[in-house]
Amino acid sequence: MPLLDSLGRDHQYLRISITEACNLRCIYCKPTEDTKLATVSPCTTKDRPHTMSYTDCLQIVSLAARFGFRKVRITGGEPLLHPEIAKIVKGISTLSGVEDVSLTTNGTFLVDRIQELAQAGLRRINISLDSLNTETYTRITGQGFLSRVLEGIEACLQAGLHPVKLNVVLLKGINENEIPDFLALAHQWPVHVRFIECMPFLSSTADFYIPTDRVKQQAREAGFPLVPVLERSDLDGPAELYRIPGAKGLVGLIHPMSHHFCGQCNRVRVTSQGSLRPCLIRDHEIPLGNALLDPQMAYQVFRKALLMKEPAHPLKRNGELEIGTGASEAEPQFLQPPLRVQPDRKLPERKMYAIGG
Ligand code: 5AD
Ligand code: SF4
Repeated sequence: MPLLDSLGRDHQYLRISITEACNLRCIYCKPTEDTKLATVSPCTTKDRPHTMSYTDCLQIVSLAARFGFRKVRITGGEPLLHPEIAKIVKGISTLSGVEDVSLTTNGTFLVDRIQELAQAGLRRINISLDSLNTETYTRITGQGFLSRVLEGIEACLQAGLHPVKLNVVLLKGINENEIPDFLALAHQWPVHVRFIECMPFLSSTADFYIPTDRVKQQAREAGFPLVPVLERSDLDGPAELYRIPGAKGLVGLIHPMSHHFCGQCNRVRVTSQGSLRPCLIRDHEIPLGNALLDPQMAYQVFRKALLMKEPAHPLKRNGELEIGTGASEAEPQFLQPPLRVQPDRKLPERKMYAIGG
């Protein structure tokens, strides 16, 4: 039975974080105190308390598929640190009702693992790549793995994954001067280069924000005209897509801050501890717990999570929250009003490595 939220949005897209472990320390995410820096792969489930078991993961996704979710994205932390990542990809790909499985990774382990993952059924991949400059990459991620990631991207292309999407979080004063280099990359490589506005989840990151309009401006100045791609697939997600004439790849702009796309949001996140998270921005979570064993209970938990979704997120560019219904938009037509929980009064330090971007 399809699940609708209070606005009648049909939810088909599940993002599941399978581990909080990560081998990077991106400045806008920063897994620190309670997450050990995982420098070698793979780790065991025992070492990592916030790593979801294969069984729980498959159980959650198969329930979601029964409730109408068709697209599944595996995230982390760094999902390739999960000891059973290939088994998870294979398990999810063969579940009835699941039509599309993809993965978001920092790319550092791809060279060695992509063949195995492709054989397990992975067809599409998103790779974080915030700089093409060795020093800047190390400054952003805390680790000097740029060349490994670039080799990993080539390995994905050779393995036939399509599309290969590269996520570039725009960071003021850090990588904004590299916009033309990334556009040149989209010209030369058959990849989607997606520029993403930095969301101020950590109060310390509020100053990093620059709007994606900066990409349009720099593209004009650098002689890379961006022609809008009008035909869209429902796998494109929230990115506005552009083509550079003669380029092998595409350019995507993702602007959660300057123009939020909450109105089209059809996703629910699952944390590595098995809780449903209706909205990336808000802290509300509902643990699935024992409902995992009872499809009817699980349906009610999913339903409740969806009814908690609001029409728009409340994040302002300076990282503060607007108290009330969220970013100002005309009051939408509710099928039924959303379940209002206590409004957030301050910006919590959001653990992105637990939610999975
Ligand atoms: N703002 C925007 N995107 C973020 N991600 C993580 N933290 C942020 C943030 N503060 C996204 C990036 C990264 C993925 C894992 O999550 O796209 O590639
Ligand atoms: Fe790790 Fe992703 Fe967070 Fe970077 S953004 S530290 S790669 S979880």
